[in-house]
Amino acid sequence: MSLSIQRQITHSVQNALIGSAHFQPETIRNVQIVTKCTNAASRFETVFPELFVNSKVSSHTSLEQLSTIRNADVIVINKVLGSIVDHAEELDTFLKNVLTATSFGGVVVIREDLQSHTDPKHVARLTDYFDVFRATVDSKNSGLELYTVDQVENSIYTRQNYLDFFWVFTKKEFAASTDETVTFRDFLDKTQYTNTGIYAYEWIFGDNFISPGGYEENLRIIKRFGDLKAGQTMLDIGVGIGGGARQVADEFGVQVHGIDLSSNMLAVALERIEKEKDARVRYSITDALVNNFAPNSFDYVFSRDCIQHIAGTENLFKRIYDTLKPGGKVLITMYGAGYGELSEKFKSYVSQRHYFLKNLKQIEQIAQSTGFTNIYTENLTPRFKEILGEERSRVENNMEEFLSKFSQKEYDSLVRGWTDKLGYIADDNHNWNLFLAQKPF
Ligand SMILES: C[S@@+](CC[C@H](N)C(=O)[O-])C[C@H]1O[C@@H](n2cnc3c(N)ncnc32)[C@H](O)[C@@H]1O
Repeated sequence: MSLSIQRQITHSVQNALIGSAHFQPETIRNVQIVTKCTNAASRFETVFPELFVNSKVSSHTSLEQLSTIRNADVIVINKVLGSIVDHAEELDTFLKNVLTATSFGGVVVIREDLQSHTDPKHVARLTDYFDVFRATVDSKNSGLELYTVDQVENSIYTRQNYLDFFWVFTKKEFAASTDETVTFRDFLDKTQYTNTGIYAYEWIFGDNFISPGGYEENLRIIKRFGDLKAGQTMLDIGVGIGGGARQVADEFGVQVHGIDLSSNMLAVALERIEKEKDARVRYSITDALVNNFAPNSFDYVFSRDCIQHIAGTENLFKRIYDTLKPGGKVLITMYGAGYGELSEKFKSYVSQRHYFLKNLKQIEQIAQSTGFTNIYTENLTPRFKEILGEERSRVENNMEEFLSKFSQKEYDSLVRGWTDKLGYIADDNHNWNLFLAQKPF
């Protein structure tokens, strides 16, 4: 069952406002729609007041009219950007107008169909553009804080179009930043998960995976759930380039919602799902600590080697708990801290990556205080060591092939990185851990 685009957007706006300091659903009054399609405008006019009872919806047919709008609590820009998406200057003007039109704390939705765009990864470039753009509005350094980038469900079901997107942001005042990377998404995309870096990683890990052991290892891990059935639902946190999500749909018929904060990673997953046309798999570019997943809605939550990136394991576990159905299960593998004295080299690796490493005892305690039951943990480090050794040998033994695709710098960095990790394991600094638990019925 898919929702109309108007309902999907309105629900998403409602979710983005959960916990908002500025607006509650009943305080949303001024809703502005910019769309060339009069049918779409009238459907927005019907749907918005159903969820936002005091909202008054005004519609505009051209982008030029954007500059006349002020104090919008919600603004929806529906498929009017066209060729602007390729022109930085025009995008800047557009974004400045959006920021001027919207109240602080207000929600901005931009919908654009990128299926016919020449660059299948344009979603990553646009996300980056919107996410880091800042302008002075009302003397404040203003920008758009990313809530989510979702696929339009109706386009998937009716037109097999997996590249029709809408971005949801809230307008915020930001402290002036002097950092090289502006947001955490920007950090992930510019450091560990750059465009070429992702493919070099994939070469070493295996097709569609950015985690140790590739397809076979992931299948072994996913089978630990024990009872996956066709038609059940799974949230995959940190889905990367999509290998795990596609595997669980293919092997078990599970319907997966894969989320990832790196737009470079998810753009690869999206490009591939557009070719495969598998409607069981859905993706969003979003932060696991920001997205308000629907409560009691997933049979499973899976996460493969992502949560070391996430500060606040307690908050994450609470969110996972809330979104699981009663009796639902969570399975996570993660990089963790060992029990040896941490070397300076290891500490600097962890801080460079912005990792937050926990040991298994800490994970178990957090799981217990969250309310999980049937908690099972396992130290997978011996297997990690085996896999790292195999992967390093594969790169070394196929150096020529690697260098036909990637640079010497990438080769050196992978071999050095894998060797360092083996050293951290020998010092009992670096662990690889598994956590499985259930939400009580
Ligand atoms: C090592 S990769 C694993 C990818 C995938 N699970 C796999 O097995 O191939 C970790 C992923 O977690 C994602 N990630 C990091 N922080 C995140 C966050 N706060 N919310 C969602 N995803 C996040 C990264 O962008 C990255 O794609």
